[in-house]
Amino acid sequence: MENGVVQTRNGALPVTDTVADRNVLVVYFSHTNTTEGAANLIHQQMGGTLFEIYPAEDYPSSYSATTQRAQREISAGTLPAMTGDVENFENYNVVFIGYPIWWDTTPPVVNTFLSAHDFAGKTVIPFCTSGGSGIRGSMTNINRYCAGASILSGRDLTGAGADTVRSWLNSIGLLP
Ligand SMILES: Cc1cc2nc3c(=O)[nH]c(=O)nc-3n(C[C@H](O)[C@H](O)[C@H](O)COP(=O)(O)O)c2cc1C
Repeated sequence: MENGVVQTRNGALPVTDTVADRNVLVVYFSHTNTTEGAANLIHQQMGGTLFEIYPAEDYPSSYSATTQRAQREISAGTLPAMTGDVENFENYNVVFIGYPIWWDTTPPVVNTFLSAHDFAGKTVIPFCTSGGSGIRGSMTNINRYCAGASILSGRDLTGAGADTVRSWLNSIGLLP
């Protein structure tokens, strides 16, 4: 793959080489660092830019206080402020979005990030970690906020190691 990229940049391969056309962003939110581990594994294998979404006001360290705040925000449809943002978002065409499942859906601050960006024309790959709910319940928000994107099959990566991540990326056509 590296050879292909280098040669294409040197003009030795036709520009139809889609690997060379890729500009990958791995963006994630992680409250207790589980999803961060999965994001790191994806980034290690895909390259590109890794970006962590931070809420401007951190969620509490206590589990029950966090679940209460999350529940309040989810039922009110709150989009809590985030700190910082991805530069030149428009330049990325492959965007991984990672998050813990909260109340069977995306955490509100992830909705903040998604609603702040235009995903039309991009390839979006959601991934999550969870206590067992899996990714399905979060797909309503992914579909809603990533209008116009080509959304690949998402995956719950709870407990996944490098080999599992690699074969998943391979199965969705992103790695040789
Ligand atoms: C506010 C909150 C709500 C949660 N809701 C769910 C849920 O609905 N289903 C589930 O399987 N796990 C749920 N969990 C567990 C997390 O999804 C799981 O622990 C995840 O791996 C944490 O990822 P993180 O370490 O990246 O924050 C919830 C955790 C929190 C803090």
